[in-house]
Amino acid sequence: MTGGITLTIVKPDAFGTNKSGKIVAHLESQGFRVRAARVLHLTTAQAEEFYAVHRERPFYKSLVTFMTSGPCMPLVLEKADAVAALRKAIGATDPKEAEQGTVRALFAESKERNAIHASDSDENATRESRFFFSEAELLAAR
Ligand code: CMP
Repeated sequence: MTGGITLTIVKPDAFGTNKSGKIVAHLESQGFRVRAARVLHLTTAQAEEFYAVHRERPFYKSLVTFMTSGPCMPLVLEKADAVAALRKAIGATDPKEAEQGTVRALFAESKERNAIHASDSDENATRESRFFFSEAELLAAR
């Protein structure tokens, strides 16, 4: 078993459909504990930096436009084996391929407007948590 902390982002499409609270409630019902949270509107520079790993992908520009189109909510979540547990709970990138009962099957519109992001490794969970939260906030979350 690996670390107990991961990072998620409830995306702008979920705010557009008034589903942000439902998504957090769904995750809490699956045993995830909210340890830090905030609502913000990403700047283009922030979205570009956060998704820099996808810079060469054809969907990069559109993804940055989408992620800056409205508010989003990063959260630090705690659960045993958090990274793997959250990836399972949110489902496949494309909601058409997401397993029944997963966040994306329940709430996502499309491969891009897919309601939620989740870190894909412990290393990225740490990097992404530091992107959104101060050391003091992360210390308080432990
Ligand atoms: P996320 O888990 O936040 O990581 C990268 C994001 O890029 C992904 O969710 C989707 O929102 C988006 N994405 C991935 N693949 C595609 C694609 N083929 N077309 C459009 N958007 C995509």
